[in-house]
Amino acid sequence: MAKATQATWGGRFTAGPADLMLQFSESVSFDRRLAPFDIAGSKAHSAMLAHVGLITAKERDAIHAGLDDILAAIVEGKFPWDAKLEDVHMNIEQALTKRVPAAAKLHTARSRNDQVATDIRLWLKHACALLGEKIAGAERALLGLAAANREILIPGYTHLQRAQPVYLAHHLLAWLEMLERDRARMTAVAAQANWCPLGAGAIAGTTLPIDREFAAVQLGFVDAKGRAQVTQNSMDAVADRDVLIEFAAACALFGVHFSRIAEDLILWSTAEFRFAEVSDAFSTGSSLMPQKRNPDACEILRGKAARLQGNLQTLLTLTKGLPLTYNRDLQEDKPPVFDSLDQSALCADVLAGVLGGLKFFPLRCAVAVADPALLATDLADYLVERGVPFREAHHAVGAAVGLAERNSIALNELSLTDIQQVHRAFGADWTEVFDLKRAIAKREGTGMPGPKQIAKQFRRWEKLLK
Ligand code: ARG
Repeated sequence: MAKATQATWGGRFTAGPADLMLQFSESVSFDRRLAPFDIAGSKAHSAMLAHVGLITAKERDAIHAGLDDILAAIVEGKFPWDAKLEDVHMNIEQALTKRVPAAAKLHTARSRNDQVATDIRLWLKHACALLGEKIAGAERALLGLAAANREILIPGYTHLQRAQPVYLAHHLLAWLEMLERDRARMTAVAAQANWCPLGAGAIAGTTLPIDREFAAVQLGFVDAKGRAQVTQNSMDAVADRDVLIEFAAACALFGVHFSRIAEDLILWSTAEFRFAEVSDAFSTGSSLMPQKRNPDACEILRGKAARLQGNLQTLLTLTKGLPLTYNRDLQEDKPPVFDSLDQSALCADVLAGVLGGLKFFPLRCAVAVADPALLATDLADYLVERGVPFREAHHAVGAAVGLAERNSIALNELSLTDIQQVHRAFGADWTEVFDLKRAIAKREGTGMPGPKQIAKQFRRWEKLLK
C-alpha cells in the first residue's frame, strides 16, 4: 500500500513509495558512513551561500551549530537513522530542519548529485591517506625483517625452479618495491580526487550567483599553492566515478602484491622448503591432525585479494553502460569502495603482523643455496671472461651440468679432465666460481643483490620510511 510521502522530493506526488521500494532504494544503511564528509560539505556550502548573500550570517551560524550538533549525535551513536529518508543526505537535512528553520535554505543551489560527488571525493582523500599509512606500517615491518636477516642467502627462483643465489634481503626488498608503488598510487588517487564538484548542481549548475571556488577552498580542494580546484564540466562532475574506480584498482593491485607475498610465505612454510615459519599469532592448527601448523593468515590474504578484484569489477560494470549523467545505479558505487578500504586496511595490518613475527631458518636456507648448479650462469661468465662467446659458453656449461647429472655428482665435483673435455677454456681455477660469497659480491651494479648494493638499498629505505 502506497502511503503519503515524507521525502523531500514529495511535492509532485500524490502517493508515497511502496514499503518494498523504500527498502529497495534506501542507501542510508551503508552511506551513513559519509556523514562526517556530508556535514563538512554542508558547512562549506552554507558558508558559501552566506558569502554570496544568499543566506544571512545568522542563518549560516544556525546551520553550522545544527550540523555540529547532528555530528555529535552521530559520533555518540544517538542519531536516529531512518531508512524511509533514503540516504545520508536526506537524513541529515531532515534532522537539521527539526533543529533550525534556516535548514530549509541549505539546499539552495545544490543537488544530491553534486553533494554525493563531493562527499565521495572527500571520503576518498581520507581513505587514501589512511591506507597510505597502513601500507607504510607493513613496509616498516618488512624493512625490519630484512634488516634482522641480512646475512641469509637463498636461491632466487624463476618458474619456481632454483635460479641464482640472492640475499634473502634482496627478495624482501623486492616486496618493498611493490608496496611502495602501492603507497605512491594512493597519493596519486588522492590527487585525482582533489577537485570539487560542488556547484555542478543536478546537471547544469544553477542560475544563482554562487562562488564555487570559495566552497572548494573551505573543503581543502586546493593545489599546492592553496588555489581552488573545481571540476570544469557540470555534467561530467555528476556522472564521473573514475576516481572510485582508480581507488578500487589501486586496492586490487595492492591485493595482487600482498597475495604474491603471501604465496611466497606459504611456500617457504612448507616442509619441502622450510625457509620460514609464520608466528603462532598468525597461524592456526587443525581440528583433526594434531601436528598441523597452517599459515592461514597468508591464505586469507591471498583470498582477500580476490575480493578486492571483485570490487573493482563491480564498479567497472556498474558504470560502463550508463548514459550521461547521474543515474541511480551509481548509488551502488559505495559498498564496493567501502569494502575495498576496509579489507585493504585490515590486510595491511595483518601483513605487518605476519612479517613482524616471521622466523627464518638459516640452516635450511644455507643448504638450499649451497646447490652449485645455482652458479652455472657464473660458470658461463667465467668462460666469457676467457674469450668464449656467450652462446658457446652457455652450451658448454649445459653439457657439464648434464655430465654431472649422469654421473650423479654435483656440478663442482667434475674432474678437471672432464670439465676440460667439455671446453678447453676451463682452467684449474674453475671451481673458484663456486665460492658463494665471492659470486654474490661480483653483483654490484645498481639493483643487483651484491652486499654493497644491498647496503645502499637499506640506506635508501631507511630514509624513505623514517
Ligand atoms: N543516494 C544517492 C546516491 O548515492 C544520492 C544521490 C541521489 N540523487 C538522485 N537524483 N536521486 O547516488
